[in-house]
Order: sequence, then structure tokens, then C-alpha cells
Amino acid sequence: MPQQTAQEVIEIQRQDWNRVAAGWEKWDEFFDRSMACLNHRLVGDARLRPGHHVLDLGSGTGYPALLAAQVVGSQGRVVGIDLAEQMLAAAERKAARLGLTNISFRTGDATTLPFGAASFDAVTSRFCLMFLPDVPQAAAEIARVLKPGGWVAAAVWSDPDKNPSISLSVNAIRSVIELPPPDPTAPGIFRLANPGDLSSMLTQAGLCDVSESEFAAEWSYASPEEYYTNLLEIAAPVQNLMAKLSINQTQEVKRLILQGANRYRRGDRLVFPFVARLVAGRKPL
Ligand SMILES: C[S@@+](CC[C@H](N)C(=O)[O-])C[C@H]1O[C@@H](n2cnc3c(N)ncnc32)[C@H](O)[C@@H]1O
Repeated sequence: MPQQTAQEVIEIQRQDWNRVAAGWEKWDEFFDRSMACLNHRLVGDARLRPGHHVLDLGSGTGYPALLAAQVVGSQGRVVGIDLAEQMLAAAERKAARLGLTNISFRTGDATTLPFGAASFDAVTSRFCLMFLPDVPQAAAEIARVLKPGGWVAAAVWSDPDKNPSISLSVNAIRSVIELPPPDPTAPGIFRLANPGDLSSMLTQAGLCDVSESEFAAEWSYASPEEYYTNLLEIAAPVQNLMAKLSINQTQEVKRLILQGANRYRRGDRLVFPFVARLVAGRKPL
């Protein structure tokens, strides 16, 4: 398949995430319940303090930007940037409900940041960087907009084997249609899954004290059907693959996913492990 240009990647990402924005808003309580722990880790790893000016890359429906705004308080400010205006509209509604007046969201591309050099005390990002057309370019942009001494903290997905709630669906689709082998350098869910992938890019961009670790947690569903519905309503990359299937193939994939999901039964719930890779680094003084 011919390689997509950076502009094509960005436009596809914008359309993909706008398409699932309503699903993300519908499942917001699920995200809050399952993944708040990650927001707290990111806010901690970015060393946020009251008064800080923070940039959140790929905020989507507001994670971890909304928590960051609560931590930096009325003297601080948070800007969330994302390609998908409909994801940001949901984030804005949540900020209003929380009464946060120190946060704003704007559309933009994380690889060409519309901010001056040294304008932020910290940068955060949850599950966005692997979708960028040029991650080293984004790392250079992060280094540029950080103030000397400022920290970046980012979460990306770790290995597919450690994230069965994502890989189960892709494996089921792969068993009914031929898909090209995953290109480890192309934008996608597991683009930065390997140890050292993102941390080496941050080091290359000039950041220091770069560290990375895996963060393991669980999310749970009431039933395989709830898991399947959630998956199809929020996972834009999975939706794209499902769109390639005939009606019969869709039914077979659904059967395989429900069957596979049943392996994760614990008591009356379905409990999936998930593992994120957390990477942090600091701009030298
Ligand atoms: C999986 S969602 C994560 C959203 C949120 N950070 C969270 O963890 O809930 C990925 C987000 O990255 C955004 N995104 C993808 N490519 C981007 C880019 N080049 N610049 C800015 N945002 C981008 C998408 O629009 C989408 O909202």
C-alpha cells in the first residue's frame, strides 16, 4: 500500500475521532472509572503544581487536561489541543460542568504546535502520540514549547499481548480477512508499544532524565455484549477494520470477539488487564 502523506494521516485521524466523539461522550463515566488512575500518574510524572501553565496533546474529551486544570488551580492554565473538534466540544462541556475557568481547548496538530518557544511549564499526553504522522517531529515540538526544567509525561499503549481488549478484536478480524502485516512505523494503536520507542525520540529531541515504565491496570464490563458495543463505539481504528467486512464476516467476527471476551470472566463481570507505557522527560535547565 502506498504510504500516506502526513497531511493524509492528519485528515484521516481528524475524521476518525470526530466520528466516534459521541461514543466517547456516551462512555465517559466508563473512561473516568477505568482510567482516572492514569490521569493521576501523568499529572504526577509531569510534576504539575498550582500556577503551572500546561499543554495537553490530543486531549480528546479532556483526559488528562481536566485533572491538570484542577491541580494547577486558578493561578494556572491548561490548553488542550486536538485535531477533532467534536472530541473537544465534549471536553468543553465537561469543563463547564466542572466549573473550570482555567482551561481552554483548541484544534491543532501536535506535530506543528501553534505556540511560542518555552511557553509551557509542562506537557501531558494520553494515548495520542502513536497516531501522529511524525512522532520525532512532535518530540521536537514538545522540547521547543517547554520551558527549561519543564517536564513532559505521556502515556501510549504497550504491547498488544498485554492489551487483550484491543488485540482480541484485531485478531478476530484478521482471522476472517487478510490484512497487511502491521507496519511498526505507521501511525496506529501500537506504534509506540516497544520499550525505548518513545523515550529514545524524546532523548533525541534533547530532553534529559527520560524514564519509562509500564503501568498495568484493569477495566471491566458487565457482559461481553457491553464490551463489544463499547469497542465499536469508541475504537476508531477497529471501526475502520470492521468497515472492510461483509455482513456474514461481521457476524463471524462478533461471534469470535464475544467468545474470546468470555475468557476474561471474573465473577459476574468481564475483567480485562491493560498495560500502558508511561514516558517522562525534562527539558534541560
Ligand atoms: C485515543 S484518543 C485519546 C484522547 C484522550 N487523550 C484520552 O486519553 O481520553 C486520541 C486522540 O488523539 C487525537 N489526535 C490524533 N492525531 C493527532 C494530532 N496529529 N494532533 C492532535 N491530536 C491528535 C485524536 O483526535 C484523538 O482525540
